[in-house]
Amino acid sequence: MTNNRSHGSRGRYLQDFVFTLLCFTALVVLGTGVVAYLKGQGTDYEVVQQEFWGLAIWYVLDVHVVFGFLAAAAVLAYLITRLLRRGAMNTASPVKRVLAGLAAIIVSLLIAQWIVDQHPILVDTIRATDYPSSRVPDGITLTWSGDPKTTQTVQWRTSDQAETGVLRYRSAGTEAWTQVESSVAPRLTERLANDQEIARHTVELNGLQPATRYEYQVGFAFGWTATHTFTTAPADPVPFQFGYIGDSQEGLLDYGALMEKARERFPQAAFWLHAGDLVNRGCDRDDWDLFFHASRNVFSDYTLVPAIGNHDDCDVLDPRLYTDFLELPKNGSDGVPQEHSYSYTYGEALFVVLNSNLSAEAQAPWLEETLKNSTATWKFTLWHHPAYASKENRDNEEVREYWVPLLDKYKVDIAFQGHDHAYMRTFPMRDNEIKETPAEGTIYLVAVSGTKYYDQVDRDYMAVGFEELSTYQIIDLEGKTLSYKAYDIDGKVVDEFTIEKP
Ligand SMILES: [Fe+2]
Repeated sequence: MTNNRSHGSRGRYLQDFVFTLLCFTALVVLGTGVVAYLKGQGTDYEVVQQEFWGLAIWYVLDVHVVFGFLAAAAVLAYLITRLLRRGAMNTASPVKRVLAGLAAIIVSLLIAQWIVDQHPILVDTIRATDYPSSRVPDGITLTWSGDPKTTQTVQWRTSDQAETGVLRYRSAGTEAWTQVESSVAPRLTERLANDQEIARHTVELNGLQPATRYEYQVGFAFGWTATHTFTTAPADPVPFQFGYIGDSQEGLLDYGALMEKARERFPQAAFWLHAGDLVNRGCDRDDWDLFFHASRNVFSDYTLVPAIGNHDDCDVLDPRLYTDFLELPKNGSDGVPQEHSYSYTYGEALFVVLNSNLSAEAQAPWLEETLKNSTATWKFTLWHHPAYASKENRDNEEVREYWVPLLDKYKVDIAFQGHDHAYMRTFPMRDNEIKETPAEGTIYLVAVSGTKYYDQVDRDYMAVGFEELSTYQIIDLEGKTLSYKAYDIDGKVVDEFTIEKP
């Protein structure tokens, strides 16, 4: 009797298990499919509406935040099973069973709705790129992964996975080209409805002469691209100019138009600092395609120096596209992944780039070492989340606690930041107090280059602030004098200051 009972109960458990799995699958597919379909309406991505059942599957498989939803659906499925097979519902009328099923579906939809609201990144998970790759190289972008005096890194993409790319370069005014093969990394983006496969090409040019202007072209099956140029950093300190921008993130075509103007007006800018949030959806390649398209006439000839923002990082989900697409120096803090922090010296200026998405405490020892060991006249930092926010409740306490005292101690001149979607310059700050002159403290900046704007409130430390204004900034360094100007798209100066070192 005992054995029979045991077999019967094992069979019932198996049935319960299978029934729970079926309930769970139905809840997940129905819940996510319907919510994604409703959320997809009104977006630019018609594919979301056409493919919403397929979307439900990707939605479940691809983004690990969905584990929360899966767990909730599993618990719900188990409860439904218990209710229908074990409890009072066993003898309940068919009407009551149908009502119980409907209730379960409504609850699962509410859970799915809540998850999508909390994590907008889950919406329109299947996307399409407006800028698909072709056999002609595009998105040509300059970065540094080594010393700016003697190296230059060039990246681009093509649709040809099998073919090695080639780049040729020469110092301007000379005849003979030197050819270099690219290293190719195939990249498959299954969530894209079009152009899923691309090849990313990288060339690091080494052994270049300092303070030299070079020409280069990228080759492909039918010829060579237009000639682009870059100039290596000077070996000895000389006056130079560089640019700084805040979040491009949203309104990338408007950002591109702003940067085209900046390039036209300041062709001598040596490189551009970008304070992070280059794109809105760092996990989605189509956003990067748009960024590189919008930047195509700028960063093909001027080095991009980025810091990683929270959107590039997909809210700490996965920054792999940022690191895949941007080859950066591997000389940063042990406390964060390679290329998330780095430093370089250009002329008489030190630039230290940090990842404010991750632990400020973990990066503090490296920040201190780097500042302490530098003999540069000028010291600058670049990170995303502002130490002094332009809006209430947006201060970043960890940054203030671990990094700001080091900027005080080692007399950093300017902290370039982003994230607040407004323009703000603080008074010179030291020990969290306002100082009279820049020589006595650090100026903290926030700017925005895209068209996503936040309100601003007047803060004690705010010297200059604007809302709803996209700007680019130009900094000139000459000996012990720094002059800074912020420009709008029409070239109007909206903020300026100078720093004179004693
Ligand atoms: Fe941000």
